[in-house]
Amino acid sequence: MKPTSDEIRKRFLDFFSENGHLVIPSASLIPIGDPTLLMVNSGMAPLKPYFTGEKTPPQTRLCNIQKCVRTNDIDGVGDRHHLTFFEMMGNWSIGDYFKEDAIHLAWTMIHDVFEFDTSQLFATVYSGDPKFPAVPPDKESERIWLKFLPPERIVHLGADCNLWGPAGETGPCGPCTEIFIDRGEQYGCGGSNCDPHCWCGRFLEIWNGGVFMQYYMHEDHSLTELPLKSVDAGAGLERFCVILQEVDSVYEIDTISPITEVLMPEGKNCDSRSMRIMTDHIRSAVFMIADGVRPANTRMEYVLRRIIRRAILHANLSKTDSSRLIAAAVKVVDIFSRYYPELENNRGEIISTLELEASAFGKVLRQGIREFSKVAAKSTNVVSAEAAFKLHDTLGFPVDLTKELALAQGLSVDEAGFKALLEAQRERSRQKTLKR
Ligand code: ALA
Repeated sequence: MKPTSDEIRKRFLDFFSENGHLVIPSASLIPIGDPTLLMVNSGMAPLKPYFTGEKTPPQTRLCNIQKCVRTNDIDGVGDRHHLTFFEMMGNWSIGDYFKEDAIHLAWTMIHDVFEFDTSQLFATVYSGDPKFPAVPPDKESERIWLKFLPPERIVHLGADCNLWGPAGETGPCGPCTEIFIDRGEQYGCGGSNCDPHCWCGRFLEIWNGGVFMQYYMHEDHSLTELPLKSVDAGAGLERFCVILQEVDSVYEIDTISPITEVLMPEGKNCDSRSMRIMTDHIRSAVFMIADGVRPANTRMEYVLRRIIRRAILHANLSKTDSSRLIAAAVKVVDIFSRYYPELENNRGEIISTLELEASAFGKVLRQGIREFSKVAAKSTNVVSAEAAFKLHDTLGFPVDLTKELALAQGLSVDEAGFKALLEAQRERSRQKTLKR
């Protein structure tokens, strides 16, 4: 029997609570007292003061399922596995166990509790990196993994992959060890060097089985030792569901496929990138609005505006009536309120905020699409920086949406040129303000 996401949640929390972890609730997506962070992007983000020793945790072992928004991978949304909103199943040791127990717990859960096919598993460990000479290669994690995996399935990677954190610009961080599952050649690029380091999608990271929080990263990227040695481990619930429910992508798991179904006009191909982007972005938007974020032009408010507008653009590109976006939002509330009652409690606000943003953006979108089609007719391969800037400056049409329209027609946008024009405009307005 394939487990439902309900069962996966329960098994995860039961396992860690049986192993002495206190189950704590998910924090809001809005970071509290952390100006370096736009949105809560990981299970550990709300717990930073515990790792630095500023606050005392209720217990030294904690676990939960934390709602997270990550937009650094937003361009990857539409593939099989990237989402801007996801739920992270996390377990933490705050100055309690360290590498040995963290990896043992990870393995027991993967092997005994969830019965993953361990012949398909790889572990990555920190190899050392000239960028961080103070952090030695993680020989200890390698030694521990060798109890479970053959050496050829332990991969050594540098800071870009295996030095995790901080969440935000400063804070706790450390070398990490991740678990990947090989989904099989049919998912791969076929390259002879294809391994967990490859981005083709064959190797899926299912668990960051432990960030070994030993350092505090400062603004200048220098590191100092933390007072405690801690563990921050996290697994994406949706990715566990993909493997355990034996489906192709996160859009087919039990809690997400009903959202896509609402969006999909009869007979439309459910694999389309636009459907996936709308599904993901509406899910994110619902959770953000429920936590009190409203669309505007700065910081997290802009993240929300950007994802709602991008969903509306993709509704337009895929000829999906925008009322379906609202119906999808209702579906998100229906599915997730049992875990996150704030969705039900804010049902009316969620719908009215989305409707208001859709109607405010509708006129800009129609004008933008009309003007873009004239630009596209005159462009070969690349939309010029001047044309993208004009759309932005005169119509308020965001450049990331110009990029989307361009992509749909096989064109790219001169983004570097666009940024230079934007900067020049900002400089002119700075000069004007100074002269006043
Ligand atoms: N904080 C770690 C991550 O997000 C577990 O990968």
